[in-house]
Amino acid sequence: MSKSLRKQILKQGDLPTHIAIIMDGNGRWAKARSLPRVAGHREGINSVREIVRICGEIGISYLTLYTFSSENWNRPKREVSAIMKLLLSTIKKEIKNLHKNNVRLSTIGNLEDLPSDSRQGMLDGIEMTKNNSGLNLNLALSYGSRQELLRAVRRIADKIQSGKMTQDQISEETISRELYTASVPDPDLLIRTGGEARISNFLLWQSAYTEFYMTDAFWPDFREKELLNSILDYQSRQRRFGQTGEQVSA
Ligand code: FPP
Repeated sequence: MSKSLRKQILKQGDLPTHIAIIMDGNGRWAKARSLPRVAGHREGINSVREIVRICGEIGISYLTLYTFSSENWNRPKREVSAIMKLLLSTIKKEIKNLHKNNVRLSTIGNLEDLPSDSRQGMLDGIEMTKNNSGLNLNLALSYGSRQELLRAVRRIADKIQSGKMTQDQISEETISRELYTASVPDPDLLIRTGGEARISNFLLWQSAYTEFYMTDAFWPDFREKELLNSILDYQSRQRRFGQTGEQVSA
């Protein structure tokens, strides 16, 4: 099933360059099995591993995962601490394998907010994989899009105040350049698992023309077949970027 889906997708040829995912539903996956929420996060890591592997194999260039939002700090202390520990143990366990598979790790968000061991684990992983040329795996950690935009505005204001640029030099590109995603193309496909239909402060600026795909599957159940189906759905869409269908297909 997955093999023929893969073939179909690759034959079609217009793969998304950048896939971004809001990984939702870990808690509900666990609840449905009368397990603690953290068991859902643990199982979610198996989905992360599989989705990263498939993206690498089929030739996706960028994968951005909404791993921990600025707002997630408001969850019960115990859950936050369990997620931070999971992050560190996962990165320590997986980094060699990621490196072997030519994955380049990066993060967006305020890494300073993380406990120092988790932050250092991430920085070590980024350093180890910095020259790799395969999949760019970008983890959004303590990330919020409004906070990112606020930071960009402040950085631009600083440049104006110090005379490095003038007000009329501010353009869309100036703003894009001051975001965490400066070196990353805008996402082509944004997937949200877990049945909700909202953007939750994720890549607001960057997803102006992104195709959205929502699925009821909880994140721990989102695996190869679900990913390939989302790409197939993406490939059936006509991206118009504000133009008419006739203009685009001319
Ligand atoms: C959303 O499910 C999930 C999170 C907020 C945490 C996601 C973290 C992981 C899957 C670990 C990823 C690790 C690496 C290394 C990338 P939820 O808890 O909001 O689920 P619910 O909506 O059902 O409560």
